[in-house]
Amino acid sequence: MTYREDIEGLDASILMHPRVWEASGHVENFTDPMIDCKQCKARFRLDTLVELVSEKNKEKALKELDATLLDGDGSLDDKFTAILEDQDKSLALLALLGCPQCGNKGTFTQPRKFNLMFKTFLGPVDDSANIIYLRPETAQGIFVNFLNVANSSRQKLPFGIAQIGKAFRNEINTKNFLFRTREFEQMEMQYFCKPGTDTQFYEEWKEKRIEWFKSLGMTASKLRFHDHPKEKLAHYAKNATDIEYEFPFGWGEIEGIHNRTDFDLSRHQEYSGKSQLYFDDESKEKYIPYIIETSAGASRSFMAFLIDAYYEEEVNGELRSVLRFHPKLAPIKTAILPLVNKDGMPEIARKIESDLRPFLRIFYDDKGAIGRRYRRMDEAGTPFCITVDTQTTEDQTVTVRERDSMQQERIVISNLLTYLSEKLR
Ligand code: GAP
Repeated sequence: MTYREDIEGLDASILMHPRVWEASGHVENFTDPMIDCKQCKARFRLDTLVELVSEKNKEKALKELDATLLDGDGSLDDKFTAILEDQDKSLALLALLGCPQCGNKGTFTQPRKFNLMFKTFLGPVDDSANIIYLRPETAQGIFVNFLNVANSSRQKLPFGIAQIGKAFRNEINTKNFLFRTREFEQMEMQYFCKPGTDTQFYEEWKEKRIEWFKSLGMTASKLRFHDHPKEKLAHYAKNATDIEYEFPFGWGEIEGIHNRTDFDLSRHQEYSGKSQLYFDDESKEKYIPYIIETSAGASRSFMAFLIDAYYEEEVNGELRSVLRFHPKLAPIKTAILPLVNKDGMPEIARKIESDLRPFLRIFYDDKGAIGRRYRRMDEAGTPFCITVDTQTTEDQTVTVRERDSMQQERIVISNLLTYLSEKLR
């Protein structure tokens, strides 16, 4: 966001007035259909049960339920998901499949709606009048602060507000490491624009966001859009798409891009009684802006970057595991490795470390054989390793080894910062 003059940053509260979540529709609509196995008491999310069933069992159950379901277009998963949207059919399907945990057939509770927001109480009394919620998305903190930010930053439409922060959802089934957790990190941006310009900005942000993943090295063929059909749009959306990544367990959403219209600000105006009208200096009109939202999971995207960067290869008969992170994503930018712990090398290495540390995230390692130290840095995805050796004590040069090619160059110590800054950019 520091790259663009039309985007402001924000760090809004995690706990907000409960009316915020009534206005947003979360109290009423942020629910998942849930069923319990009466035998083992395991709880499942009806709409994602598809993820828990093997292909063979899916096919068998669809055949028993209605053999014609196996004909025609559409993947097995799509057909399965369509059935789960129909309550009666889904119970019949469950009776055929049995409980994914204990295998028991046919003894499930009726599906119930389960609100995903975590509740807590404001003040010392656990009274329903004092319920507040942990935010299930960072977006609402941006909407309720829209006019504060617009006025204090003197931004004019179109402009965006971005924030990175924790979100909490009481997910029925967590799954696949960071993919679905109850506490996760979001990075969301809400772009406020004049009604009528929204479709253009929606298309622009779609392209910009997929390019962002590619620009950080994510494999282009493992990225795709999944546009939501009109009949499946969320209550607030005019248009919506997911950016999906092909995880080892299948395609999964990493970011949603939505045209949220004026729904959010209109609702906050209604529920707070505070005008959300924006005065347009140019046209001299007052209106409620439309919002284009880009909503990425930081933790889920991180997992996609991690998987995408992981390679194993054979080098000199040995297995090398390497994280080929884009330098901007690498948690350690440069390692400093004195070849031996004597002959003046540690002193030079420590001096290089203290000169570079204010500018780069550095790791100093003087433990073990140099080959092992390189491998450890490959596994951490460190793009460059600086080695101080005997020649350094003679001519003030060091070797700089690049992670992916494993090529080494000799660089004069005084040029290191310029050299690395250039390469890491
Ligand atoms: N403000 C809109 C919104 O929150 P969402 O599709 O519910 O939209 C946006 O969430 C992103 O947050 C998703 O694309 C995903 O990357 C991430 N996300 C959602 N639920 C998550 C969970 N339980 N664990 C990890 N990441 C999650």
